[in-house]
This record gives sequence, C-alpha cells and structure tokens, in this order.
Amino acid sequence: MSYKNTIGIIGVGHVGLPTVLGFAELGYNVIGVDEDKEKISNLLDGKPSIFEPKIVELLNKHLSTGLISFTDNLVKAVKSCEVLFVCVGTPQKENGEADLSQVERVAILIAQNINAYKLIVEKSTVPIKTSQWIKKCIEMHLANNEEFDIASNPEFLQEGKAMDNFFNPDRIVIGIESKKGERILREIYKPFKEKLFVTNLNTAEMIKHASNSFLALKISFINMVSDLCDATDADIHKVAKGIGMDPRIGPSFLDAGIGYGGYCLPKDLRAFAKIGDQYQVDFSLLKQVDQINERRIDILVSKVINALLKFDGKTIGILGLSFKPNTDDIREAPSLKIIHQLLEKGYLLRLYDPQAMDNIKQVIPSNSKVIFTSSPYEAAEQSNALLILTNWDEFITLDFSKIKLTMSSPVIIDGRNCLNPEEIKRLGLKYYSMGRS
Ligand code: UGA
Repeated sequence: MSYKNTIGIIGVGHVGLPTVLGFAELGYNVIGVDEDKEKISNLLDGKPSIFEPKIVELLNKHLSTGLISFTDNLVKAVKSCEVLFVCVGTPQKENGEADLSQVERVAILIAQNINAYKLIVEKSTVPIKTSQWIKKCIEMHLANNEEFDIASNPEFLQEGKAMDNFFNPDRIVIGIESKKGERILREIYKPFKEKLFVTNLNTAEMIKHASNSFLALKISFINMVSDLCDATDADIHKVAKGIGMDPRIGPSFLDAGIGYGGYCLPKDLRAFAKIGDQYQVDFSLLKQVDQINERRIDILVSKVINALLKFDGKTIGILGLSFKPNTDDIREAPSLKIIHQLLEKGYLLRLYDPQAMDNIKQVIPSNSKVIFTSSPYEAAEQSNALLILTNWDEFITLDFSKIKLTMSSPVIIDGRNCLNPEEIKRLGLKYYSMGRS
C-alpha cells in the first residue's frame, strides 16, 4: 500500500460501492458518501442496497477492519480527503443526452468547501469534455485560491462481476493533464501498475463511450445474424464460436438473444450517438445498433405468439427478470418490455427471478394478470409456455422433466440460448431459441 490518505468516493451505487470495497481490500482507508441517508445507514449496518457477488462479505469485513466508513455529509468528506472519486449517476434525459445535474451539484459543493489541494476523479460515464466542464464549473464557484486537478478514470466494471473486475482489470484508463495528479493516481493504482493507460482527459472519456458502444455493436451484430440463422436453419451458437475463433474478432459478447439491457450499454450508446450529432459526425451505425436491439423484444414476442397458436394457451411462465445474471438490477431490462407487450396481448404471467423480485414488484403492479412466484417450478406450473429471459445458472440445471409434468403445454422459449436444445427436446418439450433452430 502506497497512498496514505483517506480516499473519498462520492456516490455509493453500482460503481461507487465496489470501488469503496476494492480500495479497502487493497489496504486503503476509504469514506463512501451518498445523499441517500437510508442507503448510508443500511451500509453502516452491513446491508448493501444492491445485490452483487462478494459485496456483503467485503462490506462486513471492512466495517470490522475500520478501513471503511460511510456518511451522507459530502462537505465533511470534501474537507477530509485529498482525492475524491465522483461516482454519482448520469441518467439519460428524454432526448438521449446524459443528465449531468448530479455531477454539477457535487462539483459546486467541492468548490465551495475546498480547504486544501484536491484531486477530483470523474468515474461516472460522462460525455466527452465533461471533465473540462467540471474544471470550469469548479473554477467559477471556488471559495478561495486552493489548487485542484481533474482526472477522468472511467469505470469498466460489469455488474454481477464487479469485485472480480476490480481486482483483475483489463486496463485502468486515466485521463490527467497535471503531473501532481498523475503521480497521486499512479500511487493509488500501484498494485495494478502494469494495467495503467494514461491519456488526456477527452481521450479517456472517449475510450469509455467507444468501449460500451463497441460491445453493444457486437451484440446487435450477432443478433442480426441469429435472425438469419432462424430463417436458414443454421446454428448461431456454432456461428458465434466459429467467428470468435478468429483472434481479430474474439469470442466474447457474441451471445445472441433478446438483446442488451442495463443502466450502461443502452444509455451510453445513445449518449455517444448524440455526441456524434453534436459534432456533425455520422454515427448512424450506432443508431442502427440501437434499433436492432429494440426489435429483439418484438422478435421474442412473435416467437411466443407463433409457438402458442397451436395450443390456444394464455398462461406464460417467465424465468429471469434482471437484465443479466448475478444482479437484481432491472433497469432497461428486456424482460420489462416483454412483460408489458405480453400483458397488452392478454396473457396471464407467472414471474420468477432469483434476486430481482423485490425490484420487479415496484414497477409491475400485482393484479389478476400477474402472479409473482417464489421458485422456477412454481412459475412453470400450468403455463402454456416457459420463457427464459435471463441466463441465471440456476435455470440451466433445472429438472425439466419435472417442469414438463406441471406445465399445461410443454413449450420452452429460450431467449438467452442458455439451455441444451438436444437435452430439452429429448425430454419431450418443444424448444424455441434465438437462432439455434
Ligand atoms: C457494461 C460494460 O460491459 C462494462 O465494461 C461497463 O463498465 C459497464 O457497462 C458500465 O458502463 O458501467 P454491464 O452493464 O454490467 O457492463 O453489463 P454487460 O455485461 O455489458 O451486459 C449488458 C447486456 O448485454 C446484458 O443485458 C447482457 O445480457 C447482454 N449481453 C451481453 C448479450 O446479450 N450478449 C452478450 O454476448 C453479452
């Protein structure tokens, strides 16, 4: 451990909390700040507000070691920390642009309470040139002549793997234009020094947007090809494997299905396209990526309608509601749009997810058309089709012969291509997938 001062993390959500715990595990003293008082008091009781593997253990471990503390008092954190990582939300506005009001509030508070040199490190995903804008914003509100620097240190953590990603980063991008700030960040990230990639501010911000947009592009590409596989009796699973064996393409992010969701990929891609428009650069490629992704919902719903025609069935079991496995996050989850479409078409739904039930109950009203169940087997009971919308491991190992006995008609629609088609068909269930016909 090389950096001796307490590190401040502002915003302790999906990005901030793993960062607090990761730094603590490296041996640093860390203070997490959030304006949500309830979130802070739960964290102090060892109860995180998000589900993420290893978080509960690390939280309780470092509440005991005393390396972490939490507060809702941003002013106190500003005064006591030299380095402040900004991890607040940057939600999408109606027009697709990023809403920077939380970042602005934090910047102004830092400026008004500055009492010594500060290094403000922007970690939330923000449009290109935001760090320069933060700098100007702080200069405008600066209470005195204290020095400060701005850095951009975009986050590449994936939900569901955040702690593993923290300890095994592919790269740590640092946009910084001052020697002092660079030296401090090199000290903090010393355990990962081989992974550091230092650039200027705008380049670091661009890397983040370009990365997430490229990942979305890969997914929409493979989904487009999977539709052609459906139409031509080719197998997308093998096509993806075959193309991914070329090291120039690589095997990851080529899983076809119902499309990408979550808080980052959809929002960041749209924000990047907006930035392209702003600078009159043709980003229509990214707009197509978004449209292909939106169409995944209609394609899945058409598969349900086609599959059920023969059975005249109206009850559908749904396994998986979170936008991906190992998280309870349902923001921009494809499941939400699919649920709304199926309800509009008059189906009765039986929903199940291992972690996201509490979140889903807050956005889908419980009524005679929606039944919240407590196991995958209960969701399957009396249903005319069982949809898999998230590839939780738990679903792959289900006893499908038992499920078949309780279903009204044995139809599986695997929106994530996570089951073994031969196995399911051998048990006498009808199997539909996304491009594995
Ligand atoms: C994404 C990026 O992968 C992270 O590197 C980045 O730090 C993060 O956004 C962020 O900006 O904060 P995340 O939103 O956690 O991470 O989710 P991903 O693992 O990227 O998955 C996104 C969606 O794509 C999920 O709905 C997933 O099911 C879907 N997906 C992923 C596919 O449909 N096919 C694939 O092959 C891979």
